[in-house]
Amino acid sequence: MTIVLDGRATSATIREELREQVAAFRERTGVQPKLAAVLVGDDPASQVYVGNKQKASEAAGMAGGVDRLPESVSEQELVDRVGALNDDPSVHGILVQLPLPRQIDSSRILDLVHPLKDVDCFHPENVGLLCQGRPRYLPCTPFGMQTLLARYDLPIADKHVVVLGRSDIVGKPIGLMLLQRDSRLGASFANATVTICHSRTPNLAEMTRQADVLIAAIGKAKFVTREMVKEGAIVLDVGINRVGDKLVGDVDYDAVAPICRAITPVPKGVGPMTIAMLMHNTLQAAELITAKGSSS
Ligand code: GUN
Repeated sequence: MTIVLDGRATSATIREELREQVAAFRERTGVQPKLAAVLVGDDPASQVYVGNKQKASEAAGMAGGVDRLPESVSEQELVDRVGALNDDPSVHGILVQLPLPRQIDSSRILDLVHPLKDVDCFHPENVGLLCQGRPRYLPCTPFGMQTLLARYDLPIADKHVVVLGRSDIVGKPIGLMLLQRDSRLGASFANATVTICHSRTPNLAEMTRQADVLIAAIGKAKFVTREMVKEGAIVLDVGINRVGDKLVGDVDYDAVAPICRAITPVPKGVGPMTIAMLMHNTLQAAELITAKGSSS
C-alpha cells in the first residue's frame, strides 16, 4: 500500500509541539516571539499565504503583524520598511512575501533583512552557512520535506534523490541539505546522492526514473507522469498549480500514487509543512536574538 504523507496532520502536530515550546520560552524569558510579514500588492494567493502564516503565529502563541504596501511601492519605501523591522527589538522574524512587483529589485530587498531575522533563509550569509553544512536557519519548504520524511521514518541516506527544479527557494537548498553528511534530523535524513534537473536537462525521464526519492518542484501541473517514476519511489510534490477551480501538484497524482512507496498529496502535503517550519524558525530566531541580547 502506498503511504500518503499527510502534511496537514504532521504540521498540526509540530505546531502543537511548538505552542508548548513557545509557552516555555515566554515563561523563561518574558519575550514573545514575533513574526513580521511584509506584503506588497493584492495578489490573492500571497494574501492567503500571509493570512495563514499570521493565524499560525497566533495559534502558536507568537505575535504577528503584516505591513501592507501598495503594488506601486517604491524600492526606497521597501528599503525603509525592512530597515524599520530590522531595528525593532520586538520583531524576531521578517518575512517579505514573494513575488515582489517588477519595479523592485528583490535581491536588494532580501539582502537587507538582518541575517538573524531571516527566517526564510534567503540571506546570502544564511545560504552560505547552509551550503557549508553549518546552517543557522533551514529554508522552510526544504526543511518541511526533510521533517516529513523523518516523521514518517523514511530515511534517505545512501539513496538517489532526483530534484526537478533549480529554484533558490526549493530546488537548490533541498539538494544541498540532503547531500550533507548530517542534518538536524540525524544522518539518516542526509547523505543522499543528489541529482538536480531542470527545464534544460536532456532525457529528463531517464533521470527521474533513477530516483529512489523524486522531488518535483518545477511549477508545471501534472508534469511528472507514471512513466517518469520508478516503482517503489518516494515522491514529494512541491507544486501548487491552479487548474480551473482545482489545485494540482507537479505530479499526476492519480497515475503515479499507485506505484509509489510514499507520496505527498496536493493540497495537504508539503504546503502545510512550510508554515510549521516557519513557526519553528521564528521561535529559533527569538531564541538566538534573546540569547545574543543577554550576552552583550
Ligand atoms: N512565496 C512563495 N514561497 C515563499 C516563501 O517560502 N517565502 C516567501 N517569503 N515568499 C514566498
